Amino acid sequence: MQWGDEGKGKIVDLLIPDYDINVRFQGGNNAGHTVKFGTQHFALHLIPSGILHEGKICVLGNGMVIDPEALTSEMEHLRSRGIRMDGNLFISDRAQLILPHHKLLDKAREDSLKERSIGTTGRGIGPSYESKIFRYGLRTGDLQDRDVMKMKLDKLIPALSGLLEKVYGVTSPGVEETIQFLDTYMESILPHLADTAVLINSMGQIGRSILFEGAQGTMLDVDHGTYPFVTSSNCTVGGVLTGSGASPHLLGSIMGVLKAYTTRVGGGPFPTELKDKFGDKLRSRGNEFGTTTGRPRRTGWLDLVAARYAVMLNGINQIALTKLDVLDDFEEIPICTKYRLKGTVVESPPAADKAMAKVSPDFDHLPGWAEQTTSVTRYEDLPANARHYVEYIEDFLKVKATIISTGPRREETIVRN
Ligand code: IMP
Repeated sequence: MQWGDEGKGKIVDLLIPDYDINVRFQGGNNAGHTVKFGTQHFALHLIPSGILHEGKICVLGNGMVIDPEALTSEMEHLRSRGIRMDGNLFISDRAQLILPHHKLLDKAREDSLKERSIGTTGRGIGPSYESKIFRYGLRTGDLQDRDVMKMKLDKLIPALSGLLEKVYGVTSPGVEETIQFLDTYMESILPHLADTAVLINSMGQIGRSILFEGAQGTMLDVDHGTYPFVTSSNCTVGGVLTGSGASPHLLGSIMGVLKAYTTRVGGGPFPTELKDKFGDKLRSRGNEFGTTTGRPRRTGWLDLVAARYAVMLNGINQIALTKLDVLDDFEEIPICTKYRLKGTVVESPPAADKAMAKVSPDFDHLPGWAEQTTSVTRYEDLPANARHYVEYIEDFLKVKATIISTGPRREETIVRN
């Protein structure tokens, strides 16, 4: 519901026992999901966390961009930890591939943007989506036919290399080298390719339950987020349909994952950002360092204007409120309820990034609870002020927080309904 890193990995991991299928539909290995249980700790980037549960089917949808090297190493890592991947992992034959050129372009562009840089994860995400929209991208299914692959690369590689060389002065691999690169990963990818839209819809028709797992966040959506400081995919609920091929009739409940405060990595406007000791405290208490890049995250108070926008855009009908325990040690907790722009109240995030950068947040100041809530599993056991904080959010957003997370582990969760 915010700028990513809300702690969705844990929530998916918690919900998945009740589902048959776990689908990712957008983004790539820019995402990072941390799942912890007992003494185990998994950091996933591409493969849905359902893979950690026996008997679940996991799907990488057509809307994703897949780095074959990253996918293979994630698969190898999971296998080395005893996770099975035969007959339970399906990769769309229509997903886009991320080539070394896309990563080089991502970096070259970011370097050239200097202080206007997006602060991307440098994984080649944006350039791979660009190739898709230009209609010369290489898709996973193209790997199945050498002639098709060569024909497509003959078109794609000179275009990308030319751009890299002429605009940025960067040399890149040629067609033969790229084929050799892709050959290394054929064995791990080809057996998993499928028309996953057919798979998802046929499973849905026979009543199997499907958990669609978003990545990044509403405010990073390429259409609805703080453009241009966004990722290159639709992270909002519309992306579920286009990015998986699921029929709209399959959509049921929509859960928004909302962190009890706000963070953002990379550049771009962030109205409630704190650049003081409170921001540092949120960062250290919340361990706010990127799972993917290790970068320290920017931190701030909860922004209910952005959260309300996320509820509207996604049709959210229940919330998983995460990291409530990070707020345990604050005397007072401000919550942003409106923006002001040149003295005028603004009720939703403005389109222009310059305007969004200039809004000033209006805060309501809620009393803290100065008591430890880590590991609390019953709502009644939360301090009164912590319950007040939760209920304030619910009243403002008109959505119930059915899950409240009080620590990184599976066990540290309040399930209210
Ligand atoms: P890209 O997705 O690598 O192109 O990065 C674009 C913007 O999205 C940057 O500000 C990234 O920091 C941000 N971003 C991408 N993936 C994530 C994520 O999983 N969590 C939080 N921010 C992300």
